[in-house]
Amino acid sequence: MYHGWRYDGTGQCVEQPGEDEGPAARVKIASYPVEEYLGLIFAYLGEGDPPPIRRFPDFERDFVIETGVPEAWPCNYFNRLDNAADRNHVMWTHRESLSRTGGSATMRPIWGEETEYGARTATTMPDGSVTYTHFHMPNINQTRSSSRVEGALSDTGTGLDRLFWRVPVDDEHSISFIVDCVHLSGEAAESYRERRRQSAETTNTELLNGVGEAVLAGKMRVRDMDATWSTYKTFWIEDYAVQCGQVAIADRSNERPIRIDAGMLFLRKLWERELLKVATGRPIKRWTTPAGLAEMPSMRA
Ligand SMILES: [Fe+2]
Repeated sequence: MYHGWRYDGTGQCVEQPGEDEGPAARVKIASYPVEEYLGLIFAYLGEGDPPPIRRFPDFERDFVIETGVPEAWPCNYFNRLDNAADRNHVMWTHRESLSRTGGSATMRPIWGEETEYGARTATTMPDGSVTYTHFHMPNINQTRSSSRVEGALSDTGTGLDRLFWRVPVDDEHSISFIVDCVHLSGEAAESYRERRRQSAETTNTELLNGVGEAVLAGKMRVRDMDATWSTYKTFWIEDYAVQCGQVAIADRSNERPIRIDAGMLFLRKLWERELLKVATGRPIKRWTTPAGLAEMPSMRA
């Protein structure tokens, strides 16, 4: 970089200003195969040929598919994974957001079920129906939402399905990548895309993380968040405070899990089982994602 060496997509050095043509051919940096899918670029960092990319049939429909603003947070990715099966945090962690929008949630016992794609956690609602939250092993959440988009309810009308990839950067940092499937098409889709593009341009992630840090430092309270902020932003702050507030690598040895933590414990057991297989050289389970998860009853948050 310092002297303007250039590389092509395979990592081959093709230009060294000030040198004859010869030396560049002997310099090559590592490169990795990539594939674009749902607006994200996936890189394969392993040995040999890449396995087939994980596909999500519910997101391959003729609706609006948009990536969200990546959330780069100073905490281990597992702090964020723990959140995947913990729908019960909505009532408490997001109580300020809920009170501002007139929404509500109630803590309920949940249970986990292993599936071909990972796990789903289930809850029985007061009317006797069961709602699900889906988790795709190893690091992907799927939720149904009606509010966590800039512009909120009036923007989506029909709600949206969201995938979150919780990706480690190093032990103490992670990024959450988001893909939304918004059930709009035609003209409604076009105008929604434009509104969304404008709101993405004005989402200042450093500002949001800074507010989260100010809450953790005791300099302000969650309830002091800007009253004009959308639910998308207030959820960001609330989640940041609890997930980064555990410190980057949380000490879990003194946890006291109770009944409503069953979903989280179920996911951890699944991870432990699969990691043990890796450690002992046994094949891990091959996960596949069917169509139709978006149509199952789910908790909206
Ligand atoms: Fe949350």
